[in-house]
Amino acid sequence: MPNRSKVQSTTHLSPKMKPLGILGGGQLARMLALKAHELGIPVSVLSEHADDPAAQVTSLWIRGRLDDAETLRTFLSGCSVVTFESEFLDANLLSKLEAATRTSIAPRPADMAALQDRLSQKRLLTQHRLPTSEYFAVATAEEAGQAFESLGGSVGGAVVFKKRRFGYDGYGTFVVRTRKDLKAFLANFDEIPGSEHGFIAERFIPFRRELALMVARSKSGQTTRMPFVETFQKDSRCLWVKGPIKKSPALERLGRSLEKFLGNVGYVGVMGVELFDTGNGLLINELAPRVHNSGHYSMDALSEDQFALHLKCILDLPFEKPEPLSKGFAMMNLLGSSDRAPKWRLPADCKLHWYGKSLNRPGRKMGHYNVLAASPAKALALALKHRNAFKV
Ligand SMILES: Nc1ncnc2c1ncn2[C@@H]1O[C@H](COP(=O)(O)OP(=O)(O)O)[C@@H](O)[C@H]1O
Ligand SMILES: [Mg+2]
Repeated sequence: MPNRSKVQSTTHLSPKMKPLGILGGGQLARMLALKAHELGIPVSVLSEHADDPAAQVTSLWIRGRLDDAETLRTFLSGCSVVTFESEFLDANLLSKLEAATRTSIAPRPADMAALQDRLSQKRLLTQHRLPTSEYFAVATAEEAGQAFESLGGSVGGAVVFKKRRFGYDGYGTFVVRTRKDLKAFLANFDEIPGSEHGFIAERFIPFRRELALMVARSKSGQTTRMPFVETFQKDSRCLWVKGPIKKSPALERLGRSLEKFLGNVGYVGVMGVELFDTGNGLLINELAPRVHNSGHYSMDALSEDQFALHLKCILDLPFEKPEPLSKGFAMMNLLGSSDRAPKWRLPADCKLHWYGKSLNRPGRKMGHYNVLAASPAKALALALKHRNAFKV
C-alpha cells in the first residue's frame, strides 16, 4: 500500500500567489478547482454563467466568454498559470495571448491544436509510431465514398466517419454499415454541422473491450501513468469504468511508450488515452489533452487522483506514481434520463461526486460515484447494483 505522506510535494505554494486559472466552468473544471483548494492553490474560473459547476466553488469566478480576446487577455494577466477543461478553444489566439501576457498555458496551445483536430491527432500518433487504426482524410462527399471503398465498406466491413473537430460523447461519430447507409450519409454530408472542417474515416473495430489510461508529464519532465482501466460506452458515451486491468507485457510496453511520447513532444499536464483492445493487439482510439472522464475513479481509488496530478504537472511540483488503494474499483456515471429534479438515497459505500448542474437533461453527465471492492468484477457488480438508488 503506498504511503500517502510520501505524495506531499516539497515546493512552496502560497495562498497569496496569483491564482491558477481554469478556462471553462463545467464538471472537469469544478473537480480541478476543488482539488486546488485542497492543495492550498488559489483558483480562478472563467465561464459564462454564475451557476456553472465550477463557478459555484470559487470566489474568484470571472464571467466571460472563452472566445473573446480581451476577456482572455485580462484573465491570463491575473493568473500564475492557466489550464483548460476542453480542447475546443481557439489555440492560435491562446498562443498569442500566452506570449503577450507571459502567463503560461498548460497543456500548451500547440498541443491543444494538434489534438483538437482528429486528423492532426492521427498524424501525430502515426509519426510517433503509436498504434492506431488506418485512416483517411475526408473533405468532400466524393472522398467519403472513396474512403468507404478503400476501407472495405463495400465488402461488408463497417466504416466510421468522425468529424475532425468538436466531436465528443459520440456526437460527431457516424457508423456507416452498408451502401444504403453510405447513400444516406452522403446525401446529408454538407448539412452535418461542422462538416466544413472535414472528417476522418476509419474501419469499425470489432473490439473485445475498450480501455483507457491517464499519462502525465510535469513541466520539468517527470512522467508517470495511472493504471489501465476498462471503460464501457453506451450510445458512444462512457457509462462505467472498472479496474485495475491485469498487467501484461503489451500494456506495460504501451504505457512506457506513451510516457516517452509525452517527453518527445514536451507535453505538460495529464493526457487521457482511449484504446481498443482487439483481442489481437491494442489500438489508440483517441487522446485528450486534459483530465478525463475515464480517470474519475482515481478520486477515491488511487493514492493520487488525476486532478492533483494535473495540478502538480502544470505547477511543476513533484509527484509519486498513483497506485490503487484497493484490489478493485469502479466508477459509474450518473447520466440524466429526464428533466425532472434528481433524487437519491446514498448507499454508504458509494463515493458520490455531484456536479451541481442546475438542470437535468437526458444524457447529461450529472455526477458520478466510485466504489472500491476486493476485485474489479466485484466493484463493478456493486456499482451496477447501487445505480438503482439514484433517480437521475
Ligand atoms: N473505429 C471504431 N470502431 C468501433 N467503435 C468505435 C470506433 N470509433 C469510435 N467507436 C465507438 O464510439 C465511441 C466514441 O467515439 P470516440 O472516437 O471516442 O469519440 P468521442 O470524442 O465522441 O468520445 C468510442 O468510445 C467507441 O465505443
Ligand atoms: Mg472518446
